[in-house]
Amino acid sequence: MSEKTHYGLLKGKKGVVFGPLDESSIGWQIALHAYREGAEIAISNVAAALRFGNIEELSALCGNAPLIVCDASNNEDIDNCFKEVKAKIGPVDFIVHSIGMSQNIRKQLPYEDLNYEWFMKTLDVSGLSLHRIVSLALKNGAINDGGSILALSYIASQRNYWSYSDMGDAKSLLESIVRSYGPRLAKYNIRINTISQSPTYTKAGSGIPGFEKMFEYGDLMSPLGNASAEECAEYSMTILSDLSRKVTMQNLFHDGGYSSMGATIPMIKLAHEVLNDKDLADRVGLNE
Ligand SMILES: NC(=O)c1ccc[n+]([C@@H]2O[C@H](COP(=O)([O-])OP(=O)(O)OC[C@H]3O[C@@H](n4cnc5c(N)ncnc54)[C@H](O)[C@@H]3O)[C@@H](O)[C@H]2O)c1
Repeated sequence: MSEKTHYGLLKGKKGVVFGPLDESSIGWQIALHAYREGAEIAISNVAAALRFGNIEELSALCGNAPLIVCDASNNEDIDNCFKEVKAKIGPVDFIVHSIGMSQNIRKQLPYEDLNYEWFMKTLDVSGLSLHRIVSLALKNGAINDGGSILALSYIASQRNYWSYSDMGDAKSLLESIVRSYGPRLAKYNIRINTISQSPTYTKAGSGIPGFEKMFEYGDLMSPLGNASAEECAEYSMTILSDLSRKVTMQNLFHDGGYSSMGATIPMIKLAHEVLNDKDLADRVGLNE
C-alpha cells in the first residue's frame, strides 16, 4: 500500500475509528488509509481487543494514534472515550463505526432458537452502539460541524442470508438509525451513511458458519468480484472527505455490483455443472 497514490483527501481532518482489531479488519484498513490521506486519528476498541489484537502496531503505523478502550454498548465508556478523544486530539471531523458481534452466531444457535439475552447484545453492540456513539459525540461537542459519520453494513439487512442470523436484524437496525439520525444531524451539516460491504475475510466475517461459501457465492455473483477490506477503506475515504458533502442517509453498496445482479454466467454455469453431477454436489456440500 505504501507505493499507492494518496490524494491528501483528509488533510487537516481528525477522526476516530471504532473497531480495528488486526490487519484483516475493515476498521484497521480504514484507520490506516485515513492516516495516509492526511488525517490525525484516534483508535478505539474493547479492552479484550487491545490484548488479543495488535492495535498497538496500528497505532504506530498511524503516527502513534491514541488508543482508547471503550465498550460501545456502554454509555459511560463512550462518554469517557469522547472526553479522551477531545483531550488528546480535539474534536473530530469523522467517526467510523466498524463494530459487530453476535454470540448467537459464535455459538451457532439456530435462528429459531436464539438466546434472547445474546440477541439483545447483538442488537446493542452491532446496531444501537451507533446511536450511542453519535449521541455522546454530540453531547461532548466532540464532532465538528460538517463532519461525516460512517458505519459498516451488510446486505443481510435487507435480504435473507440464512447463517447471518441475528446479525441481519442488527444491520437493519443500524441502517434505520442512519436514516433516523440523518435529518437531525443535517442542522450541523453532519452526514451519516453506511457502506454495505462484500463478504470479507476478517475475524467477525469468518466466524459466520459457511462463510467460505458466502464468500465464493458473492464473488461469482459480482461482476467486479468481491471487494476487499483495503478497497472498502479506499471507498470510505471519499465518504469521510469533503468530496461527499451532500451524501447522507444512504446505504452505499460496495460489493462489485452484487446487489444489482439477478444472475451471472459463472453462477449459471456452476449451477448447471452441480445439478448434473451428483459427486460435485456432494463435494460442495449441497447434499449436506
Ligand atoms: N467481514 C465481512 O464479511 C463484513 C461484511 C460487511 C460488513 N461488515 C462489518 O464490518 C464491521 C467490521 O467488522 P470486520 O469484518 O472488520 O471484523 P473485525 O472482527 O475485524 O471487527 C469487529 C470489531 O468489533 C469490535 N467489537 C465487538 N464488540 C465490541 C464492543 N462491545 N465495543 C466496541 N467494539 C466491539 C471487535 O473487537 C472487533 O474489533 C462490522 O460492522 C461488520 O459487521 C463485515
